[in-house]
Amino acid sequence: MSGYFIVFEGGEGAGKSTQEALLTEALEQRGLTVTRTREPGGTPAGEEIRRVVLSPEFEGLDPRAEALLFAAARGEHVARVIRPALERGEVVICDRYLDSSVAYQGFARGLGPRRIRDLSLWATNELLPDLTIVLDIDPADGLGRFTERDRLEAEPLEYHRQVRAAYLALAEEDPERYLVLDARDDIQAIAAAILARVSGDLEQS
Ligand code: TYD
Repeated sequence: MSGYFIVFEGGEGAGKSTQEALLTEALEQRGLTVTRTREPGGTPAGEEIRRVVLSPEFEGLDPRAEALLFAAARGEHVARVIRPALERGEVVICDRYLDSSVAYQGFARGLGPRRIRDLSLWATNELLPDLTIVLDIDPADGLGRFTERDRLEAEPLEYHRQVRAAYLALAEEDPERYLVLDARDDIQAIAAAILARVSGDLEQS
């Protein structure tokens, strides 16, 4: 595969979508074709699954069922959108991916990071990102930006603290494939750091 797969991860309110938009624009200006997408979702079936997992209507959804739904949406997303775009040689920018499941379902829900990772690897036929950008934020700051919360945002602060710790631990294990940035920094400074890293990686690839 000749494309380049970039994932943005981070807690709620870290400013992922702003940075995804800025990176997409910068790469397109350089003549690259970018497919920008998100999880859960990104396909018609995936958007349906998104509705189920995020809706307060399904309060108390069984954690294993929740984990399987995220993995199912991911499998469909990779098969229909991500892998074909990479095969066309495009840059794929995805809001959340496998590490969201590892952090939220594996660590914070206590289902076990290893098993949850293996489930997603099976669902995606082993597709890992080339680079994962973690926008790190204290959940007490991030959640403060929301007034209306979906089912997962409404989880207690401790849940979100575990998610944050999980991302930092994952990044520490594999620094070559991660870039961790402080989400409180200036938007343009964050965008510049991301572009510098991505440009360097693309030149080498
Ligand atoms: P979303 O509104 O997309 O949140 P954000 O703007 O913060 O990305 O909601 C996605 C929610 O789903 C978010 O709370 C994280 C959660 N999630 C999981 O728990 N596991 C997963 O595998 C994914 C992809 C998301």
